[in-house]
Amino acid sequence: MEVRKMKTLELEPLAKRWTVVMVEKEYDEPLWDHDEVLFPRLPPSLRVIRTPTVAFKEFLWELLTREKPDLVTEERGRRTDREFYEENPVAQICAEKGIPLYPADVDENARYYLEGRVNELKEKRDEVLRVLARKGKRLSLQQLEYLRTYAQYLHQELEEEVRKVEFEVREAWITMGILERARKTEKDGVLVMHLTSPRHVEGVAKMLRAMGATITHVKLEKRALPNLNLKFPPTRLGRDLELPGFEVVPQVRAMGGEEMPFLLFFLDTEPHVSPFDISLAYDVGFNAVVPYGGVTRETARGIVQDALFCRGPKGVKRSSFLIGGKSLEEAEEILRVVRESMSPPFETSVVIDPHGAYTTAAALVAKLEAGSKKLGVRGREAVILAGTGPVGKASAHLLAGLGFRVRLTSRKEERARESAREIRERWGTEVEGIRVADQGEALQALRGSSVVVASGAPGVELVSEETLRELEGKEPMIMADLNAVPPTGIAGLRPDHDLEEFRPGIFGMGALAVGKLKNGVEKEILRRARLEGRGIYDLDYAFKTARELLGAEREGIKLAPLVLSY
Ligand SMILES: NC(=O)c1ccc[n+]([C@@H]2O[C@H](COP(=O)([O-])OP(=O)(O)OC[C@H]3O[C@@H](n4cnc5c(N)ncnc54)[C@H](OP(=O)(O)O)[C@@H]3O)[C@@H](O)[C@H]2O)c1
Repeated sequence: MEVRKMKTLELEPLAKRWTVVMVEKEYDEPLWDHDEVLFPRLPPSLRVIRTPTVAFKEFLWELLTREKPDLVTEERGRRTDREFYEENPVAQICAEKGIPLYPADVDENARYYLEGRVNELKEKRDEVLRVLARKGKRLSLQQLEYLRTYAQYLHQELEEEVRKVEFEVREAWITMGILERARKTEKDGVLVMHLTSPRHVEGVAKMLRAMGATITHVKLEKRALPNLNLKFPPTRLGRDLELPGFEVVPQVRAMGGEEMPFLLFFLDTEPHVSPFDISLAYDVGFNAVVPYGGVTRETARGIVQDALFCRGPKGVKRSSFLIGGKSLEEAEEILRVVRESMSPPFETSVVIDPHGAYTTAAALVAKLEAGSKKLGVRGREAVILAGTGPVGKASAHLLAGLGFRVRLTSRKEERARESAREIRERWGTEVEGIRVADQGEALQALRGSSVVVASGAPGVELVSEETLRELEGKEPMIMADLNAVPPTGIAGLRPDHDLEEFRPGIFGMGALAVGKLKNGVEKEILRRARLEGRGIYDLDYAFKTARELLGAEREGIKLAPLVLSY
């Protein structure tokens, strides 16, 4: 028996800049023609209507020459490979231009399945109609009325099913086909040219926009001019047939009023804005990132208000804010100013991630939580070494939130206590600040702990080989090190360690293992902020996202915000 594997319909926004030029064809490309009632089979002579004109082919040639797209997609409809790739004038033009052409349409197996469902409904309706025709005369008025109602009901269902398949389902498949090809193009700023049936322009454009694409719509419009009294050579043309002149005009329009670009205003308290965050923001589809360095609470208000009011209530949803900076306190202060400056309807999404600390701490603690579960680590004692920086403080808060007794260290006791106080005031969580200034104090702090985080400055070793020797071979302990710059923060713990037992009973988690999830979290947050256009994306949100991504990774699921299955 042949087993057909059905491709699933899954739409996941594309995390890069991409544009789709939708080229409207001169006719609709039919999906199927099996139903004489809803899809009349065209007599062969009518096929000419479904063949591109010379004007259209020239128009397409011009477009490809001018725009130089990375790829072209076209609805395949019910065409065979031979009809699509060999006999299709579009394929011939693309081949001459050296631009790849791909079909984007309902998967063949899915089409059979959908067709089956439609056929079932159609057979039911026809059965009722047959009974009516055969036995109608012998039926009572009441029976007749019943069967008529039943036939109408089935016909409505059939029409509804066909409409759903033809539009919602087919348009989702077409969108997925275009998305898949754009995703495979290893390039940022992909330009796709998609040849579309007139009836699918709006629907597909809407879905593509939701997937982060910028859309332009072009079409060749045929306008009939007043009768020019043209003489047509074939004499057998009907006497009454008027022969108007034609004007064939290319029309270009950006689609919908929603075509405003996505802007990210990046307010950083440091003089130089982080190129890391700028790059990720572009990767997830912001059309422009506007960096402001050295922002203070005084200057922030002016920038934010200018940005909020200039594009109107609709445009403001496409103007997001990202707040960064080395100091957690200053960044939180800017967030406060931004929140105060917004009032309905002039509200938008705001991401806060000072020096990447929130997304890093979120990824770290989500991995520690999962790692502890996996290894069966039961102890609830955690130490954050050199925890007075932004990453250390944010991690301490999240670990305390999970029920750990957290001690945060500094070379200076006063600084450690000050950080603990700050955490209590900001987030209401209790952690203890202690001094760790040498290996003796480190050993004392780490004994009996089950989770240790080294969050010291880059290139500073905080736990030596000798200290580790004293700690090994006891209850299982997880040590995470955020420093990827040699020497790393914990002797022998490599940045790529991901729960490796690098000393007996000590499991290491390095900066790269954490960094991989951190990047995923930051991208996901920026992407959601862009698409949602509202909400505050803070430390707790980052942690929630890190857990989601990690959970999905463990279960082998690719996160897809929009999944339609037929
Ligand atoms: N993996 C990732 O994805 C990722 C992302 C972001 C950051 N990071 C890393 O995470 C770590 C923490 O970042 P951060 O911005 O919070 O760090 P930070 O503020 O630069 O430093 C944290 C603490 O390290 C201590 N320290 C500084 N110099 C030291 C020295 N010479 N000896 C001993 N201690 C010293 C200081 O604490 P005291 O003065 O109070 O002792 C400081 O408050 C860094 O290594 C950073 O590179 C990793």
